[in-house]
Amino acid sequence: MRAVVITKPGGPEVLEIEERPRPVPAPGEILVRVYASALNRADLLQREGNYPAPPGAPQDIPGMEFAGEVAQLGAEATSWKIGDRVFGIVAGGANAEYLVTDAGTVARVPENLSWTDAASIPEAFITAHDALVVQAGLQAGEMVLVHAVGSGVGLAVIQLARAWKATPFGTARTADKIERAKVFGLADGVVVRDDVGVIPPALVQLTKEHGVDVTIDLVGGAYVAASIRAAAARGRIMLVGTVAGREATVPIGMVLGKRLTLRGTVLRPRSIAEKRAVTATFATDVVPLFASGVLRPTVDCVFELGEIRAAHERLASNATFGKVVIRVD
Ligand SMILES: NC(=O)c1ccc[n+]([C@@H]2O[C@H](COP(=O)([O-])OP(=O)(O)OC[C@H]3O[C@@H](n4cnc5c(N)ncnc54)[C@H](OP(=O)(O)O)[C@@H]3O)[C@@H](O)[C@H]2O)c1
Repeated sequence: MRAVVITKPGGPEVLEIEERPRPVPAPGEILVRVYASALNRADLLQREGNYPAPPGAPQDIPGMEFAGEVAQLGAEATSWKIGDRVFGIVAGGANAEYLVTDAGTVARVPENLSWTDAASIPEAFITAHDALVVQAGLQAGEMVLVHAVGSGVGLAVIQLARAWKATPFGTARTADKIERAKVFGLADGVVVRDDVGVIPPALVQLTKEHGVDVTIDLVGGAYVAASIRAAAARGRIMLVGTVAGREATVPIGMVLGKRLTLRGTVLRPRSIAEKRAVTATFATDVVPLFASGVLRPTVDCVFELGEIRAAHERLASNATFGKVVIRVD
């Protein structure tokens, strides 16, 4: 099979398309013919040598989400039939023509979704739903804030917040992403240039003095303190990403005084049992909303497998709005 291979740590130029043996499904696993995959920040870090794949995952074939057809069943993998359309997350190996994965960590693709639309969904929407609804316990009527609103996960958060009858606000570094996000349900946003100090007063005003109940922080760094200052009493702040920095100085007294919850989350290193659980929740609570058209895929652009270097450059540019998708014909 053709696969993207990280030949050594470095920039996009270290990525090559190579022939690799087709993997064989172990008991409980399925072989999937991948028709599309999508990129994530973790792929860039892995390519640079800063985020190795967890044990058991392909070490040098990147790719953490896919959509494709079941091509072979391992022993005991009785829940699927050959030819079923499935999508899901994996700890690596999705930028290839075939992958093997646990049969319980895929969901059925609704008929109305193309391969490229389907591949744009799992990582962003599982991350967003798990953080916003499962872990932060979002309630109808609450105020939501997401940093990097035009990111793949950011646009998922906005749509899910609306579907759960909450009001989503967001930040971005350019005004155009705020405007484009309004099409997906963003109530309003704040453009953050050099100073995150603009965030708390803006959110006080936008939430009519209430403050933010649930913050999904996709960027970290100085945004963490700003999220604390913008929070409502008993607010929940989910730390999901660190593109703006891995360290932060925070106003601890305010965390105590407002009785806030700060919680970190990550999907990739979770156990198979945890990934089965998160996938089952995704399949029952999120996928039907794509079938009914309540949620929409957010594809920024589509590259061919052979254009993987350009795809990485596009994601690293920060110019994307939504997901960078890889077609695997
Ligand atoms: N914990 C998990 O399991 C998990 C899973 C998936 C993703 N994530 C994380 O969630 C975040 C979003 O992921 P994604 O794939 O949706 O990202 P994405 O589509 O690549 O978008 C990331 C956006 O972050 C903004 N950004 C980049 N550097 C920034 C900085 N220094 N300060 C402020 N904003 C910055 C940029 O938008 P602007 O130019 O508009 O600011 C960029 O477009 C990433 O940090 C990713 O690592 C975590």
